[in-house]
Amino acid sequence: MNVVDSEVVAAILQQHNYRLTEKVNEADLVLVNTCSIRDNAEQRVRARLKELIRIKKNNDGMSVGIIGCMAERLKEKLLEEESMVDLVVGPDAYRELPALLQEVESGQKGINTLLSLEETYGDIRPVRMDRNHVTSFVAIMRGCDNFCAYCVVPETRGRERSRDPETIIRESSVLFEKGYREVTLLGQNVNSFKWENGSQVVAFEKLLERVAKIDPLLRVRFATSHPKDMSDELLKVMALHPNICRAIHLPVQSGSSAVLARMKRKYTREHYMERILTIRKYLPGVSISTDIITGFCGETQEEHQLTLSLMEWVGYDFAYMFKYSERPGTFAANKYKDDILEEVKSRRLQEIIQLQNRLSLESKEKDVGQTYEVLVAGTSKKSEEHLFGRNSQNKVVVFPKGESKPGDYVNVIIHSCTSATLIGNPVH
Ligand code: 5AD
Ligand code: SF4
Repeated sequence: MNVVDSEVVAAILQQHNYRLTEKVNEADLVLVNTCSIRDNAEQRVRARLKELIRIKKNNDGMSVGIIGCMAERLKEKLLEEESMVDLVVGPDAYRELPALLQEVESGQKGINTLLSLEETYGDIRPVRMDRNHVTSFVAIMRGCDNFCAYCVVPETRGRERSRDPETIIRESSVLFEKGYREVTLLGQNVNSFKWENGSQVVAFEKLLERVAKIDPLLRVRFATSHPKDMSDELLKVMALHPNICRAIHLPVQSGSSAVLARMKRKYTREHYMERILTIRKYLPGVSISTDIITGFCGETQEEHQLTLSLMEWVGYDFAYMFKYSERPGTFAANKYKDDILEEVKSRRLQEIIQLQNRLSLESKEKDVGQTYEVLVAGTSKKSEEHLFGRNSQNKVVVFPKGESKPGDYVNVIIHSCTSATLIGNPVH
């Protein structure tokens, strides 16, 4: 999401005659797009700011701004704490950037952290900052209304709002025409995408189908899905369109219904398991990935074991795994005690990571001997002689170069793997 936001910011500034540079030392303006989701994300921003301030001290003309969630969460406090920062702008105020920069030029500090009920930047064509020109992200909605107990996003990104589908289709079509071959539709909870135009209502599955119909050669992915809103209608649409990728990211957060209730996730372990069975019924061979938080308030050893057993039951292909990090202002911070000792959180996270490493390897081992269509994204980081890309299941595939180039589809037969990568040869 932040990548797309940076691309939107770049577009707004380009309209006002700013130009992008790759070199910090040459920049007149450096904007740091920030995340507040866990404390360590904010710590990393603070470290980066220290570095930038050092550069700024040797470069009179340079301004430094903080944009994104941390700007929204801390507002004026950020200008007090980071006195060398010139500008603080929240996620819904990017259109004000040019005006705020004029204030900065006249020696003032610029700040705007107003949230909006309508802003989607739908009319702005993001300046792509990806490197491969094959895969791209398209934001389809902003904000979140779910208020999971641990999560700061509803506060920092405001109320959920969907973007006009016509602008989404147009942006995706232009990407395809420019040679892109994959778009990922992005939102905090894409399943609740809803656009109302008089009596006409466009739900997520309709939008997805329209994007899929742009061209069979355009792959479509989406993230993130919420287990409480993952509908059969969506699965039916996916089953009908082979270019909608066979990969679903379905964050479970915990395998214990009691923890899920404390987290205010609005589903149970049983509901989640039922959804997995249904997903597999409609989409055989689909890959399933997840997010897991360990050490949430009051998590017992038994509850932790339930997370491990659910992971094993699902057999996740991939997972993002985190220690619970208390965020000021959230329901959990206000109502519960962050009572799991750091060493216990670390131990549980290690167990979860170890299990996932095994599951990831098992998932890849099952693919050995199979042939997959791979969308080539570029040259392998490890070897000039190899290309890399992903299959529909979102697994990275590496294979010898030959004639293919980024943006091509190549059928690859898999002969070996690691827990992170499939390795194969093109089939002619
Ligand atoms: N602590 C740890 N992880 C968190 N996430 C969200 N909030 C927190 C928090 N306070 C994780 C969830 C979410 C992912 C984007 O980040 O797993 O799905
Ligand atoms: Fe946060 Fe929950 Fe919204 Fe995801 S669905 S952004 S975890 S509040």
